[in-house]
Amino acid sequence: MIAILDFGSQTSQLIARRLREAQVYCQLFPCDAPAGDVLAGEPQGFVLSGGPASVYEPGAPQLPDYVLASGKPVLGICYGMQALTHALGGRVAPAGQREYGAADIRSTAENPLLAGEQRVWMSHGDRIEQAPVGFAPIASSDNAPVAAMADLERKLFGVQFHPEVQHTPGGLEMLRRFAVDICGAPADWSPGHIVEQSVAAVRQQVGDRAVLAAISGGVDSSVAAALVHRAIGDQLVAIFVDTGLLRQGERQQVREALQAGLGIELVVVDAAEQFLGDLAGVTDPEEKRSRIGERFIRVFEEQAKALGQPPFLLQGTIYPDVIESRAPERHHAQRIKTHHNVGGLPEDMDFELVEPLRYLFKDEVRQVGLELGLPAGLVWRQPFPGPGLAVRCLGEVTAERLERLRAADAIFTGELEAAGLLGTAGAPLAQAFAVLLPVYSVGVMGDQRTYQECVALRAVSSQDYMTADWARLPEDLLARVSGRIVNEVKGVNRVVYDISSKPPATIEWE
Ligand code: XMP
Repeated sequence: MIAILDFGSQTSQLIARRLREAQVYCQLFPCDAPAGDVLAGEPQGFVLSGGPASVYEPGAPQLPDYVLASGKPVLGICYGMQALTHALGGRVAPAGQREYGAADIRSTAENPLLAGEQRVWMSHGDRIEQAPVGFAPIASSDNAPVAAMADLERKLFGVQFHPEVQHTPGGLEMLRRFAVDICGAPADWSPGHIVEQSVAAVRQQVGDRAVLAAISGGVDSSVAAALVHRAIGDQLVAIFVDTGLLRQGERQQVREALQAGLGIELVVVDAAEQFLGDLAGVTDPEEKRSRIGERFIRVFEEQAKALGQPPFLLQGTIYPDVIESRAPERHHAQRIKTHHNVGGLPEDMDFELVEPLRYLFKDEVRQVGLELGLPAGLVWRQPFPGPGLAVRCLGEVTAERLERLRAADAIFTGELEAAGLLGTAGAPLAQAFAVLLPVYSVGVMGDQRTYQECVALRAVSSQDYMTADWARLPEDLLARVSGRIVNEVKGVNRVVYDISSKPPATIEWE
């Protein structure tokens, strides 16, 4: 295992993802995590991330003592390099000019980390004025005489640039060399290995007792269920609540993949009437979310009771959620929407959690899903919000309007999938869907005047769903979708395309 200490850089998570890409298992810890937590996994080396502070300023985070005391190899990146320098008695000072963007570095001494000339990505205001005793520069750029340095004897390395970002094309190889060649970490973190490890861990945690799962049809809860089912078979009982707010064919697809495909015992609860009853007359987005959340909890509680109150609850928590919840400053962010997750259950329910995806990134979850035999259509499916179509059916949510929305959505996403733009490995769109607007406008069909509702199409590209750009879709595809929707979906006579990015808009309309 390689331990990454997070000094607050925007790209700390990327370091972990890149190392995992190199098939090396790593974990990300806050830089002030208790030593015992970090050392418990017996790290074979440490990577120190970048960060926004200046290491010589009062209160700036410093390199914890246990890192150097461990005698293991260390790679400091940007602020990490400066923290290493500071801790070892070298000198860090403001650079005359902030260096931001691409730079070319040349290797200046033989070393196991990097060689030759490379394009790298710089983003720093401070620089190393004097390397600590024992260190020598191993690369330089026009702006930074010490773009990288090393103490080869003690296996300590520092790079001023960011090997984890895409703009450093050789960065993945540098991280691999550090972890595998220098630290001796095994490059064996493969989907098969992950499954094997998780299966053993789940068996050990739950023994012969029962685990309850709430399946949303999304990738995470499905993969988590498949993994636990591989470990404990029919001790897993999965509940799938049909809220009446699902997409076209969704209930059937989930059933086929999990029940028919993997043999998971799936209790399908038909609760559409209750959900729609709760939503009658409600148009406020937050009120919709809150009613859906509450109803979900009630339905789930009833089922859990009927199933004899199993002691364990399966959660599809993935690593980014874990990292986010550890970063206290991010909790102060303003609440834009109340996110409701299927599985967002009451705190007073007495469950022990089983979280087999807790250390996996989304792309690893997908690979594990494929390894476990889930169909590619489910594994590459776009995310779908917990409150379902209710937040895409603007205005009042009724069965009739949902049907309209479902039909329009199926046409749009079907065309996008057929064009290879959505729902497959490497597809350019992160999310795409139809939104039904409570806006009536005049149209003409044949010789008839119509006065009907409007459908908005939303398609975005996004890495992390925190920001998103609207997709420049081919005009002929948009024309075909629009034509099909007004012809095939009763009650809709107008289609518009949403050209707002996030921010300032959000991906969903409510
Ligand atoms: P927004 O609309 O906030 O959405 O830009 C960002 C991502 O989150 C999804 N989303 C939700 N997911 N429960 C969820 O599980 C929710 O309540 C929820 N609201 C939005 C949205 O689909 C997008 O992927």
